[in-house]
Amino acid sequence: MRVALVIGTRPQIIKSAPIIHNANKFPDIELFVVHTGQHYDYEMSKQFFNELSLPDPVVNLGVGSGSHNWQTAQMMMGLDKAYAELKPDIVLVPGDTNSTLAGALTAAKMRIPVAHVEAGARSFDMRMPEEVNRRLTDHCSARLFAVTEGCAANLRREGIREDRIVLSGDTMYESVQRHRRDIDKEDVVGEFGLAAKNYGVLTLHRAENTDEEERFRRIIGSLLELDLDIVFPCHPRTKNRLNEIGLLGKVQQRFRLIQPVSYFRMLSLVKNAAVVLTDSGGLQKEAFWLRTPCVTLRDSTEWLETVEAGTNQLVGSDPEKIARAVGEASAQGFPVTPFEDSELLIPDASVRILSNLLSNGW
Ligand code: UD1
Repeated sequence: MRVALVIGTRPQIIKSAPIIHNANKFPDIELFVVHTGQHYDYEMSKQFFNELSLPDPVVNLGVGSGSHNWQTAQMMMGLDKAYAELKPDIVLVPGDTNSTLAGALTAAKMRIPVAHVEAGARSFDMRMPEEVNRRLTDHCSARLFAVTEGCAANLRREGIREDRIVLSGDTMYESVQRHRRDIDKEDVVGEFGLAAKNYGVLTLHRAENTDEEERFRRIIGSLLELDLDIVFPCHPRTKNRLNEIGLLGKVQQRFRLIQPVSYFRMLSLVKNAAVVLTDSGGLQKEAFWLRTPCVTLRDSTEWLETVEAGTNQLVGSDPEKIARAVGEASAQGFPVTPFEDSELLIPDASVRILSNLLSNGW
């Protein structure tokens, strides 16, 4: 079975790593990586291939940045050609980015079966490009790998056939488990002269936060007011936006603003932080697995399980809520009780996914 794994962005590389590694254990699967080039800076792509010892993609379409429609259309044209040449039996797409949608839609139109990793996650906010990508990808997929029973239930509610849904668990969890020692070997906290559990780590890059100036200013303004050391590995788009609205200098003065860091270094920062401040989907879960409280700078989340477990607070862009949640999280630490039963702890997702690809019913 020839499986084309289509990726393009930083989180997709991380989500795919366990699948790529374990594919070697399945002699009937020939898996190869197709990179759209959505992320192209060393810090956003290649550094993760190096760190996680992943093979180079068989092709990189080099699409780069642009409007969502331009970017998605360029990817589809490139993938149309790539699929025709590479002749995959199945196209596997992880996550919810424009690369995910382009990978799935192009395959569906060429009648190549699509399998979606991280299917059924929903924020129920169609203003988010990722929600559009997830929903459309799910609805043109033949096999849907859901992280939790909640994700599977979302798919059923949308009328997706039961025999297409597989509860797989989360490859991101598997990756955290696999690399616990690598994470502990990093000493980012020491390098920055920080004290463990005495600082916050911040990431912010979602379009809904960075693109609307008033909201962006409100969030940054609230964070600047916090009485907390903050490390801020900054996404290139966020840095550009801070520069455009004249806040870069202030942010650089107040926070430790650094380049996007490697996977192990990031998880080391998360593990040792008193609190994670983020609008990323993946980091909400990574904070959970590494037992650090999270404050999510969004109005909705796909990972309600973390909110229900009491480890993640959704605060949107409200300055009062942000200050209160950060105060509480730093004072109370990570609640222990509900952790062990969480559905976010299903092990061996990649093996379940790879075995399932070989089953009948495509
Ligand atoms: C994309 C995903 C988002 C994911 C994020 C992870 C979509 C719709 N969004 O957002 O779901 O959480 O990746 O990081 O697919 N840029 C660079 N160098 C790069 C890549 C981007 O400088 O290597 C800058 C460019 O100015 C670009 C901007 O970042 O215009 C946005 O990049 P883009 O790929 O459009 O979306 P992300 O914000 O990275």
